[in-house]
Amino acid sequence: MITIDISDKNGVLASFPAASGQRLLQAGLAAGLGLPHECATGTCGNCKATVVSGEVRRLWPNAPGAKVCRNPAETLLCQSAADGPVALTLRAAFTPPCDPPCAVMRGTLSRTRVLTPEISSFTVTLDDPIAYKPGQFVLISGLDVNGPRAYSMTEHQPQKSELSFLIRKDPAGAFTGALFNDSSTSHEVSVFGPLGRATFSSDEDRPFIAIAGGSGIAGVLAILDHALAKDHFEKHPSHIFFGLRDAESGYLLDELSSAVVRSERRLRVTVAFSNVPCSAELAARYPSLDFAGGFVHDVVRASFDAGSSSGLAQMKSPLFFVAGPPIMVNATLRVLVAERRISPTEIRYDRFG
Ligand SMILES: Cc1cc2nc3c(=O)[nH]c(=O)nc-3n(C[C@H](O)[C@H](O)[C@H](O)COP(=O)(O)OP(=O)(O)OC[C@H]3O[C@@H](n4cnc5c(N)ncnc54)[C@H](O)[C@@H]3O)c2cc1C
Ligand code: FES
Repeated sequence: MITIDISDKNGVLASFPAASGQRLLQAGLAAGLGLPHECATGTCGNCKATVVSGEVRRLWPNAPGAKVCRNPAETLLCQSAADGPVALTLRAAFTPPCDPPCAVMRGTLSRTRVLTPEISSFTVTLDDPIAYKPGQFVLISGLDVNGPRAYSMTEHQPQKSELSFLIRKDPAGAFTGALFNDSSTSHEVSVFGPLGRATFSSDEDRPFIAIAGGSGIAGVLAILDHALAKDHFEKHPSHIFFGLRDAESGYLLDELSSAVVRSERRLRVTVAFSNVPCSAELAARYPSLDFAGGFVHDVVRASFDAGSSSGLAQMKSPLFFVAGPPIMVNATLRVLVAERRISPTEIRYDRFG
């Protein structure tokens, strides 16, 4: 083990042990240190640190998040490792540590259900159960692909050794390419987590509006699972917006429809098709769901503008969840923050990229 010394922008000092070659973000988080991060996979740039002494290895020099590193001493902690002692400084302050604590685990990844040619459900079976919050994600590494990938759990129970995921195949993607090409077999994987602060607890005692684009629905499903188990909608009617391209690429409509019925319609689910309007036949098949045409952020805007009939504008102190591709999350944040003047502190989001 080597020792990594790190100070934050306020001059607070901390040290943590790391194995040679271990990702510094993961080593620090596993040691209980609150290192700033968002994606944990090299895209957001939030884990930037400056090397003051010693040397780090850049595990993915061309990571999209590395564009925030403007001088050679700057590096992304999630894409850096060391083979000897290193001293670093952060541009940000330490954050609260991971809650629940995170760790490295071994697991077996298997496909459980094909939902569409692009989307399947998978499970990772761990040796021991772990605790995580609804809305959290883990990092999965394996299949001989460089680097970990983040996936949000789709179910929630207080302790689980079988984690469920909804994974979308990226036609040009390294990990999902390998996974979907060989998804009949099980794969030994390394799992790191749980991570993520876009979480929900019914103890918060307030309604929520969740806006998901495509596989962004994954973490929302865990939030829904928890909310139904706690009868959350009885006191706090809530609303999920689910953006899809068209009915052909649609999935989970049966499950979402059942959730609306189970909540006695205190939960509303609006499915937004961006490419093709919903057919009368589909609307008739799912009378519990609302359907709309357009990008999901435009449908959310229209629902606010619709005033009392939509219920959105009258909802008292809702918490917002946004998840999906970065372009969809950014467009939705613009609607919520810039147009509707909703405080960013009321919005929790995960950009899937
Ligand atoms: C917080 C979060 C939660 C997510 N949840 C889900 C989910 O529930 N379901 C889902 O389908 N997708 C989810 N994603 C997206 C997912 O993590 C992957 O980006 C996606 O599956 C595509 O992976 P890929 O390997 O096929 O594509 P690629 O384009 O090959 O890789 C995508 C990502 O992998 C990492 N990466 C790529 N190359 C390297 C490398 N050489 N070294 C290190 N890292 C590399 C980067 O983060 C890159 O953006 C989530 C993403 C985030 C950030
Ligand atoms: S946390 Fe390292 S780039 Fe996002």
